[in-house]
Amino acid sequence: VPYLTDAHRACAQRLAHWMRSDCGFDEVEIDAVGNVVGVYHGSDRGAGNAKRLLTGSHYDTVRNGGKYDGRLGIFVPMACVRELHRAGRRLPFGLEVVGFAEEEGQRYKAVFLGSGALTGHFDPAWLEQKDADGISMRQAMEHAGLCIADIPKLQRDPAKYLGFVEVHIEQGPVLNELDLPLGIVTSINGNARFLGEIVGMASHAGTTPMDRRRDAACAVAELALFVETRAGAVPDLVATMGMLEVPNGSINVVPGRCKFSLDIRATTNEVRDACIADVRAELARICEQRSLHFKLEETVRAAAAPSDPAWMRRWECAVQALGLPLFHMPSGAGHDAMKLHERMPQAMLFQRGLNAGISHNPLESITNHDTELCVRAFQNLLDNLATETP
Ligand code: GLV
Ligand code: MN
Ligand code: MN
Repeated sequence: VPYLTDAHRACAQRLAHWMRSDCGFDEVEIDAVGNVVGVYHGSDRGAGNAKRLLTGSHYDTVRNGGKYDGRLGIFVPMACVRELHRAGRRLPFGLEVVGFAEEEGQRYKAVFLGSGALTGHFDPAWLEQKDADGISMRQAMEHAGLCIADIPKLQRDPAKYLGFVEVHIEQGPVLNELDLPLGIVTSINGNARFLGEIVGMASHAGTTPMDRRRDAACAVAELALFVETRAGAVPDLVATMGMLEVPNGSINVVPGRCKFSLDIRATTNEVRDACIADVRAELARICEQRSLHFKLEETVRAAAAPSDPAWMRRWECAVQALGLPLFHMPSGAGHDAMKLHERMPQAMLFQRGLNAGISHNPLESITNHDTELCVRAFQNLLDNLATETP
């Protein structure tokens, strides 16, 4: 479900439909970047006096990903609104649930298009970025009937919000190994992404002697092994080259060009940045030694996002009330909460994944029982917040 594909637009319609007709949200709209936004008014019935709690997660997915990455964080608060609506209950604050249109960075280089629009970080220059088929973001948005001119209006005023909470599957093995259904997130790792290319000389695979080659793919392979060793030597640092390509490569041609991606993450920005500096230096060294050229473009930089202590405590109370042990953990994956973090206090709740917590893979799975606990924790958070809010 990459951004604004047919599957993506169908998904938005389905979410909006369920919010409106099954859950009883008071206002539902698909906004100018494709976010699905549902509002359940507080006891002031939308008169504008009550602050809102903002929550949600993304509905786009990686290629051949799982079903729950992102979606769980939309459905859990939707289920809570459905129960509030059924009971005819209003909270002293409004609840705004957002299905963010784009978080994964699959179709375009830019990421967090959905949550970034809410924080005022949608860069109009992104509209000219092209996908793999040469379709610009502007064309895709126009095709989807989105009103590009309205994007700046999506920015939220933090003074009108209590904060942001996000539920997400853990996407890792920790909770599953400890046999715990829920975990409280202490911080989200800082991330940086790059697209690079090494350029050498394409030449005949049969006639070019091994010592005369300018093989771009071998240079990228050397870099990949450096990246693996460099990240592996430091706890809480990970680095991945997930895309490797020899454009128009042939079986009998020494690779003249090789494209790659690089994704580096760490619990602190400093550890991440030290790794970036070393990878850049090694890339330059490899190219110098092999007489090659390179380009390296930074496409994403997201700061590490420590959770707000007061919101973490609210999750703790909500989980404890279910009789579950409290467990705290950092998030290795990136989340929309990193973006909202730039504007308001945030904290996340993780739900365990099965199959060793595998994610970005169709084997991603959860149980109904854990999800019910997750919904109940969210309901507890809302109920406790209701007693705090005048
Ligand atoms: C999102 O899934 C990310 O962490 O890359
Ligand atoms: Mn994901
Ligand atoms: Mn996700």
